[in-house]
Amino acid sequence: MNFAILTSGGDAPGMNAAIRAFVRRGISLGHHVWGIPRGFEGLVHGEPVPLQAASVANILMTGGTILRTSRFRDFTLQAVQEEALQRLKAHPIDGLAVMGGNGSLAGAVQLSRLRFPTVAIPASIDNDMPGTDYSLGFDTAINNIVGSVDKIRDTASAHERIFVVEVMGNRSGHLAIAAGLACGAEAVIIPERPTDYGHIASQLQATFARGKKHSFIIVAEGAGDARTTAEALAQLTGHEAKWVVLGHIQRGGPPTAQDRVMAALLASKAMELLDQGQHGRMAALRDGFVTDLSFDDEAAQRTAPTPMNWLSLAEILAR
Ligand code: F6P
Repeated sequence: MNFAILTSGGDAPGMNAAIRAFVRRGISLGHHVWGIPRGFEGLVHGEPVPLQAASVANILMTGGTILRTSRFRDFTLQAVQEEALQRLKAHPIDGLAVMGGNGSLAGAVQLSRLRFPTVAIPASIDNDMPGTDYSLGFDTAINNIVGSVDKIRDTASAHERIFVVEVMGNRSGHLAIAAGLACGAEAVIIPERPTDYGHIASQLQATFARGKKHSFIIVAEGAGDARTTAEALAQLTGHEAKWVVLGHIQRGGPPTAQDRVMAALLASKAMELLDQGQHGRMAALRDGFVTDLSFDDEAAQRTAPTPMNWLSLAEILAR
């Protein structure tokens, strides 16, 4: 059979390792595998490219996505979805794997509702996809943040400064919270919780009074910008506060071993689902096991819970 894969939305480290696994698992099962360039946009305006075992050599260790990606808002339009469907059928492609975050999953669900055999592979540094405990790219992104914060800590400590570090996460604080735990941040500011600057300032005063030489605040980009946060905290505490926006550095670079392993497992699962004629399903990690769940499953409908217990713990441990 002919199965295709596309990557959509924000790229996530591990996507290339997943493309490799999808292609090679497909070949091992006797299928032809195709890549759709530029996500859903390529489904409508592009042409599938054949992917052989050699096409995916030496990409396991690279960030980004060899298929490239896009945020294609028009795919919410039914006429555009129908056009994509016609092009898939004309090729012909017998089944499609969509790899990406929440917006990409919504596109996969639409294709599945139009009865096109579709499966999904969770990949988003936000790790906020419902129904799965893990989305590709999260571990690499946290490690990228940790690497940067460890460097900033040296200079923050030398100058006894507060540093506000802005990390990604427009609607989700999951990445910020995990980074806060991994970096020992004094406070984590996330979109899911109102920010009490007065409380944060008094915690910072207490840590400086205890003799701590630097302080970190992690702010998720959807909860406010680093500069405004730094200015507010400088004014409230009387301490010098600097700010840094880590930006897209967080999303680049070689995937960690965890992302490579998860990519192999999740993408192979997605190919196996297509091979077995099981559609409308997402490969997922649940309770430590790779499994799959229906797009219609209640777990796939809910928004992924923010680990507020991790947030409280990060703040306790930083005192
Ligand atoms: O969804 C992944 C993500 O990296 C978010 O954390 C971030 O808010 C957003 O993408 C940034 O999008 P873009 O790369 O389009 O600026």
